[in-house]
Amino acid sequence: MLSSRASNWLVFSRALRKLKPVVAQVLGRSRFAEDALASAMGRGINQYVIVGAGLDSYALRRPDPAGQLRIFEVDHPDTQRAKRRRLGSLGIALPAHLEFVAIDFELQELSEAMKGSSRRRDTPAFYSWLGTTHYLTPQATLATLGSIARCAAPGSEVVLDYSVPLSLIDPEKLRDLLWVEKLARRMGEPLIGNLDPVQLHADVAQLGYGIVEDLAAPEQARRYFSNRTDGLEPTPACRLLHLRLP
Ligand SMILES: C[S@@+](CC[C@H](N)C(=O)[O-])C[C@H]1O[C@@H](n2cnc3c(N)ncnc32)[C@H](O)[C@@H]1O
Repeated sequence: MLSSRASNWLVFSRALRKLKPVVAQVLGRSRFAEDALASAMGRGINQYVIVGAGLDSYALRRPDPAGQLRIFEVDHPDTQRAKRRRLGSLGIALPAHLEFVAIDFELQELSEAMKGSSRRRDTPAFYSWLGTTHYLTPQATLATLGSIARCAAPGSEVVLDYSVPLSLIDPEKLRDLLWVEKLARRMGEPLIGNLDPVQLHADVAQLGYGIVEDLAAPEQARRYFSNRTDGLEPTPACRLLHLRLP
C-alpha cells in the first residue's frame, strides 16, 4: 500500500486517515531502536535480541558479512512458523547471523527461553521490545523487564515503546485516539497497557535500570519527522523508552 502513491493516498488520506499516527509510531519506534542499537554496537555490543519480533525485517535489511552482530528473534512459535513460510514463499533465505528463539510469554519467562539459545550471558546485549506493551497489563510488562534484567549482563540495553494514560493526552487529539482504541478492541486486541511515565520510571529503577531517554511525541517529531511533506507525525499516545543496566 505504501509503495504506490495512489493506494497510499487512498488508504491513509481517506479510508484510514485516523491510522496515520499509528503508521508514524511504527516507523518512529523502529528508527529509535535501530539508532540506539547502532550506538550500542559502536560501544562493542554484538548481540541483538528482538523480543516479540513479528515481521521485523532488521536481520534482512542489515546483512552482516563481517560477523559483527548475532540477532535473536524471540517470538511465539506460530508467528515464527508463519514468518518462515512467508519468507520461503518469497524465496528469501534466513541470514546466518539470525537465530529464532521460540517462547509463549503466557507460559514461559524470557530468561528461560533464552537459555535454549546461543546468546552469551556474560557479555551485554541490546534488546528491543516494540509494539507489544500496549496489549499487556503493566504487571506483565514489568515482569518481562524484570526477566531481562535478571538474565542480561551489566551494560545491556533495552528499548521499548509504551502507551501513556489517556488522561495525559491533549483533549483535542483524543477523538482520533479513541477511534483507534475502539478498532483495536473490536479486533480482539484491546489496548490495556497504559503506563504513567513517572510511575514507570520508578518501577524500572527498582528493577535496576537507568533511564537513557524517554521521548514524548514532540521530541519524536523533532528528531524523526521534521521537514516531511506527507503529514506523518507521531501519536501523543506513545513514548519511546531507552534503558541501560549499570
Ligand atoms: C504487534 S506485534 C509487534 C511486532 C514487532 N515487534 C513490531 O514492532 O512491529 C506483537 C508480537 O508479540 C508476539 N506475541 C503476542 N503474544 C505472544 C505470546 N503469548 N508469546 C510470544 N509472543 C507473543 C506476536 O507473535 C507478535 O510478533
